[in-house]
Amino acid sequence: MSIEKSVNIGSLEYELLIKGHALEKTSVAIGFTDSSGKIMYANEAFLKMWKFESIDNVIGHSPQDFFVNQELIKEKLKASMDNNVVVYEAEAMRNDGTTFLVNVTASSLKSENGEFIGHFASMADVTERKLKEERMIHAGRLTSLAEMAGGLSHEMNQPLTGIRTVAQGVLIGLERGWDYEIDEIKEKFKMIIEQSDRMSSIITHMREFAGLDKVLEKEEVNIVSIIDDVFKFIGQQLRKHDINITKKYDTDLPQINIYRTQIQQVFVNLIANARDSLDEKGVVCANDGKEFDKNIIITVTKDHIDEVENIIIKIKDNGLGIPQENIDKIFDPFFTTKPSDKASGLGLSISYGIIRDHFGSLIFDATENEGASFIINLPIGK
Ligand SMILES: Nc1ncnc2c1ncn2[C@@H]1O[C@H](COP(=O)(O)OP(=O)(O)OP(=O)(O)O)[C@@H](O)[C@H]1O
Ligand SMILES: [Mg+2]
Repeated sequence: MSIEKSVNIGSLEYELLIKGHALEKTSVAIGFTDSSGKIMYANEAFLKMWKFESIDNVIGHSPQDFFVNQELIKEKLKASMDNNVVVYEAEAMRNDGTTFLVNVTASSLKSENGEFIGHFASMADVTERKLKEERMIHAGRLTSLAEMAGGLSHEMNQPLTGIRTVAQGVLIGLERGWDYEIDEIKEKFKMIIEQSDRMSSIITHMREFAGLDKVLEKEEVNIVSIIDDVFKFIGQQLRKHDINITKKYDTDLPQINIYRTQIQQVFVNLIANARDSLDEKGVVCANDGKEFDKNIIITVTKDHIDEVENIIIKIKDNGLGIPQENIDKIFDPFFTTKPSDKASGLGLSISYGIIRDHFGSLIFDATENEGASFIINLPIGK
């Protein structure tokens, strides 16, 4: 028999029935505790997500018992008593010891006179979404890797040519019976070693960038050195495209705690976008018979925003800018105005995600035909 037939629609009983039904049947896990912090209700989805057969395995336990980082959960429970709603991600542990990632929305239940009655939390399994995001970051890294490959071949060619020239010179000399001084030979070998070291440092750098030597830890770094590293690889390519680079860095910039390869990837994306826009404008201007100087200006400054010290990186180009109709779309995954064999449209959405994961912001300011500025704010000490 359906609900509508057995109870009056609009009655309190009906309201309770549908609320109860919603709680039980939603795919989101839901739990309540009493005022002492012990779980007194968990819905079907909770049992399913955590793989418990019976509600008895859950009732009476503390919420933190179902998570890997118990301290984090305790902290968040406390925070949800002070604030209205607390949203966070946490690694949950199933009955069988396997783990999964949940997005938790927690709040505290209070009586009319403000007395604390218990905690409430709804939890969605976001493991799949996280995996997809990671796959996207990886796909984006491959794109930026391709961007850097051009610069890489140039960087590698120089020391290789050097080594070959020195070795060939010595070989020809020996074949012709030239009498080398031992110091002269030593000097030549030193040059070969130096050039080989240069190549191996380039390879190390590329491996790090490609995520082959995964540094999953955050590192304290000087942001300027990261930007300069990126230019090591794409600087040559930008010069070939006749793009002038101006760098304006504040002098006493503090160190910042970041995932180095990810932030590098953001810079490669943003600089490649500026390059593409400048190239496109170059073609338009050439067709109109106009002179056009391609410029990218990179500014790094520090500032206090709401008591927190921030590093602000601005990448400004004088390219084509962004037309009004695209302003709301450029951060969307797969949105691109470029030929599909050249671009995936993932660059900005990935960059946005990376900066968000660093608790920062990525915004832009663009005028059609006049260029675009992309501005990254990174809080220090997060
Ligand atoms: N500096 C810029 N100037 C003008 N337009 C820009 C700039 N940066 C991004 N855009 C616009 O935003 C769109 C999306 O950028 P995004 O980096 O996400 O993808 P893409 O560059 O097209 O492709 P991918 O980065 O995946 O190779 C671009 O196609 C372009 O239209
Ligand atoms: Mg791009």
